[in-house]
Amino acid sequence: MKKILVTGGLGYIGSHTVVELQSAGYDVVVIDNLDNSTEEVKERIVSISGRSIDLVIGDVNDQTIMNRIFKEYDFYGVVHFAAYKAVGESVDNPIKYYENNVSGLITLLGAMERHGVQNLIFSSSCTVYGIAEDLPVTEDTPIKSAESPYGTTKIIGEEIIQDYAKHKNIKTILLRYFNPVGAHPSAQIGELPNGVPSNLVPYITQTAAGIREQLVIHGNDYNTSDGTCIRDYIHVVDLAKAHVKAMTFADKMTSSVDIFNVGTGDGSTVLEVVQAFEERCNMRLNYRIGPRRDGDVEQIFADTQKINDVLQWQTEYDLHDMMYHAWMWQKSISRK
Ligand code: WQD
Repeated sequence: MKKILVTGGLGYIGSHTVVELQSAGYDVVVIDNLDNSTEEVKERIVSISGRSIDLVIGDVNDQTIMNRIFKEYDFYGVVHFAAYKAVGESVDNPIKYYENNVSGLITLLGAMERHGVQNLIFSSSCTVYGIAEDLPVTEDTPIKSAESPYGTTKIIGEEIIQDYAKHKNIKTILLRYFNPVGAHPSAQIGELPNGVPSNLVPYITQTAAGIREQLVIHGNDYNTSDGTCIRDYIHVVDLAKAHVKAMTFADKMTSSVDIFNVGTGDGSTVLEVVQAFEERCNMRLNYRIGPRRDGDVEQIFADTQKINDVLQWQTEYDLHDMMYHAWMWQKSISRK
C-alpha cells in the first residue's frame, strides 16, 4: 500500500483527511506536535476507519525527527497541514507564524528532497485572493497582498513551492480552501477551537450549547442581499475527499505544480448560515448585529469548474448538513 505522511494529521482538516485517505486504501503516518490537538484524536480516527495509524509526536520544524521518519518510511507522498491558522493571533504575533508556517514547509521540502519523495499536497487558502474584483474567483484570479500574516504565510508557501518545483523533481498540488465547517457524521472528530472561537460556525454551535452568551454578527451594512458578508462554506468531509482525489491525480500530473480552489461554488451570507442552523437544528439562536470586523472581505466564493473537471470531485453535503454535523459534534464534546 502507498504510504502517506500527513503533517498536522490530528488537527481539524488533517484528521478528516486521514480518515478519507485510509478509506481509499492508503497507509497513513501522522506527525503532529499536539499544539492544536490531542492524542485522543488518533483513537477517534481509528474508531471511524478501523485502520491503525503510525503517530509521531513531533514538529515538522525538527530536522532530526523529519529525517528519522523519512528514513524509516518509504513515503509515496505528503499532505502538509501542520501550520498555525488563527488570523487574529497572526496579527499579534507575525514572527511566530513566519517561523512555524514558512520554516516548517522548508524543512519538509528538504526532507522530501533528501529522500526522493515527490508528491506534495499543500494546504493553502482562499485568503490568498484578498479582496477579489471579480467573483466567483478562479485559480487565475490575481493573488493580492494578504490581510494578515497568516495569509502572507500561505502566499509565501505557494511561491516557495512554485519556485522550488521549477528546479527540482517534485509534483505539488496547492489546494486553496474556502471556509471549512462541519464535522464527521459519526461525531467522533470535528473542530476543537482553542479558547473563544474566532470562526463563525464554532461560535454558533457554542452559543447554541450555552457556552457563549450570544453570537455577534460582524456588520450588516455590506453590499450583499442581507448586508452580511458572503463566504463559500464547505463541509470538512468534502474538503478531505478533495485531498484524496488530489493525491490520486499526482501520478497523472504533467506539470510540476497545479492549483485548485476547494469550495462549493455557492456563497452564503452570515444570516443565511444562522438561518440554516436554526432550521436544520430546530432551534432559535441568540444573536445580534455588531460592528464590522477589521480585515473581513465583503464577499468571496469559488469557481469550482477546474476541480470538478480535472479531479472529478463534487461536493456531497449542503449547508444544512454542515450545520447539523457541526451541532452533533458540539453536543458530543459538550457531553464530555
Ligand atoms: C466568516 C464570516 C465574519 C465570527 C477564516 C480565515 C481563512 C480560513 C477560514 C483558514 C465573516 C463572520 C465570524 C463571529 C461573525 N481559514 N463572523 N461573527 O474570516 O472568512 O476565514 O477562516 O484557511 O483563512 O481567514 O472565517 O468564520 O472567521 O468568518 O459575524 O463571531 O462570519 O465576519 O463575515 P473567515 P470566519
